[in-house]
Parts: sequence; structure tokens; C-alpha cells
Amino acid sequence: MSDICPTLRRDGDQVVILDQTRLPYEEHYLRLDSLACAATAIRDMQVRGAPLIGAAAAFGMALALRHDASDTQLRHADQVLRQTRPTAVNLHWALDRMHAALGPLPAAARSAAAWAEAEAIRSADAANNAAIGQHGLALLRPLASKPGPLQLMTHCNAGWLATCGHGTALAPIYAAHAAGLDVHVWVSETRPRNQGLLTAWELARAGVPHTLIADNAAGWLMAAGRVDCVIVGADRIAANGDTANKVGTYLKALAARAHDVPFYVAAPHSTIDPACPDGAGIPIEERDADELRLLPGLADDGRIVRTRLAPASSPVCNPAFDVTPAGWVTGIICESGVVQPDALASLTRH
Ligand code: MRU
Repeated sequence: MSDICPTLRRDGDQVVILDQTRLPYEEHYLRLDSLACAATAIRDMQVRGAPLIGAAAAFGMALALRHDASDTQLRHADQVLRQTRPTAVNLHWALDRMHAALGPLPAAARSAAAWAEAEAIRSADAANNAAIGQHGLALLRPLASKPGPLQLMTHCNAGWLATCGHGTALAPIYAAHAAGLDVHVWVSETRPRNQGLLTAWELARAGVPHTLIADNAAGWLMAAGRVDCVIVGADRIAANGDTANKVGTYLKALAARAHDVPFYVAAPHSTIDPACPDGAGIPIEERDADELRLLPGLADDGRIVRTRLAPASSPVCNPAFDVTPAGWVTGIICESGVVQPDALASLTRH
């Protein structure tokens, strides 16, 4: 696949993003020219996925400081961006990093420094993705020695759409495909936002064999011996290895444990939250009820429309993430290698 994954880039004093709310139906790019636009893009999931949320917040800060880089504006931008999405810790990591870089500077120097720091976050994420891909490939090679395709399963979208490079959970899969391993990927739909459709779209573009499944089919496929390994991303990993990822991950991990299927989490160090001792401390985002009641899709005339599934009066609970206990995770694939969940303390956050 190409090295240029166009999720987000600077263009002069604006930022261009691929609007993920229109995928997989339309490839549409949006220009962000203010703090408010950047905050909306993150909150409404035009950009999504933990590492990309972090990078988008950094670029949002750069947009905010273009004409006013005072201490007051720095604090205001930080506050606005921090409140957009609660679970992905990469958002806080990126804003902390922006603060550390910009806070000590005179206001006149902050705008240029903000763009430079945001670019540094973006390129470091791409490099981390590449390293995750190679470490994951080393894990997959021995599993691929059996006859037939290596049957992988993933959940949500942790590919290039969710990062600044080739992805986290999908990076080892892209690396395996590029290395000539015979891989096939089970892609779960990921109700209610259906990020699995994004994964299927990515894999189709890259020519990686895959099959879309309903979320509920995952357990049965594992029970039937049709899955060799599960790889998912993460939004926040607590210090003890408990891992928050897209809702539905927990059930996959439970089934993987029951059927002795290796279950890997792929994530950069910036997704580890050393200040959060265990999963109980991870804030779980509750999203709008209409995400369950209404279903976006393509009408016969090619327009993207929303179809009503449930009446507006239907009570809804919509947690966007769940937490998988550390003990159910076979290993965490990060840029420094594959780490056991109980050995996270040895990693530094940079
Ligand atoms: O709500 P989303 O789509 O932002 O959630 C994304 C996920 O849960 C991903 O699995 C996670 O962020 C890892 S992205 C590389």
C-alpha cells in the first residue's frame, strides 16, 4: 500500500481531513480553519481512532493559535479540545505535549512552534505504526506455517484511517500481506457506528482478502476453529494492562479466551495511561442515542441517507467503548516490541 495515508495534513494555515462520516460511500475532504472546526471534527467523528484524534487535537491547537497565541488562548484551546472525546488518552497525551512545547515560549513564537510540534506528532505516529507492523509480522509468521490462509480477526477500525500511518491493529496485517503471507481477515461490523465498514473499505483498497461479519458472529467463528488470531487497537491502556477499545472488544476477548485464540492489542505508547491504575479508572464515552436508532447508508439515487431503525421514544444505552481485562490479552504490540500487559511499567511515554 502507498506510504501516503491522507487522513489529515496541513495545507498552508488550514488542515485538510478525510471526512470519515461519509465513508465508505464517498471520499470527501474537508478544510478545517478554526479551533471550532477541529473540535467538531473530533467530536462528530469526521476524524476518529485514538492516534488520529491525538494528531487532530495537536493541529486544532495550531489552528487556534494562528492569530492569538496568548496564554489565555492556549488555555482556551486546550480546554475546548480536551472535552471533545473522553476515552482516547492520545488526545490528552498530544495536548500535554503541545503544552510542554508551547508554554515556555513567548507568544510570538508559538504559532510556528505549534505547527512544527503537530507535524512531529504526526510523523512520529506514522513511524510507530511502521514499527508495530514489523513487530506484529514477527508474531504472525509462525502462525502462518499451517496449511491454508492465516485467519485473523479484528474489530472496529484500527487501520490507516485511525492513525497518521498504516494503522495499529491493521499494520501487522498490511505487513504480513506485503511479505507474501496468505492472510484472510474477519472484519466485524462494529455496531452502532459500523467502523468495520471502514476496515473493509481499507482492506479492499489494499487487496487484502477479508470478509465482513455481524459482530455477533465472532464467537461462533472462534468456537468453530476458524480464527487463528485476533488483533485489535486500543483507546486507553491502564497501567495494569486493562484495555479500553471499541465496544464489542470485550466479547471478542472473552470468546478468544474460551477457545484458546491468541488475542493481541496493537497500540503506541501514547495510548498507555500510566496515571490510570486499572480499567475501572478509564472514562467510557456515552454517545448519542440516535447512533443506535438511525442507520446511515446509501439510497438508490446515490445519496447518503439515514434510515430509522428504532422510534425516537426508544430508550437507548450507547457506551462507545468497553474494557478488556489485562489477563485476557496475550500481548500488546507497540513500537518497542511485544509487551506482556503486566510489564507495561517498563515502557516510557514519549
Ligand atoms: O470511536 P472510534 O471510532 O474513534 O474508536 C476507535 C477505536 O476504538 C479503535 O479501535 C482505536 O481507537 C484504535 S485506533 C488505531
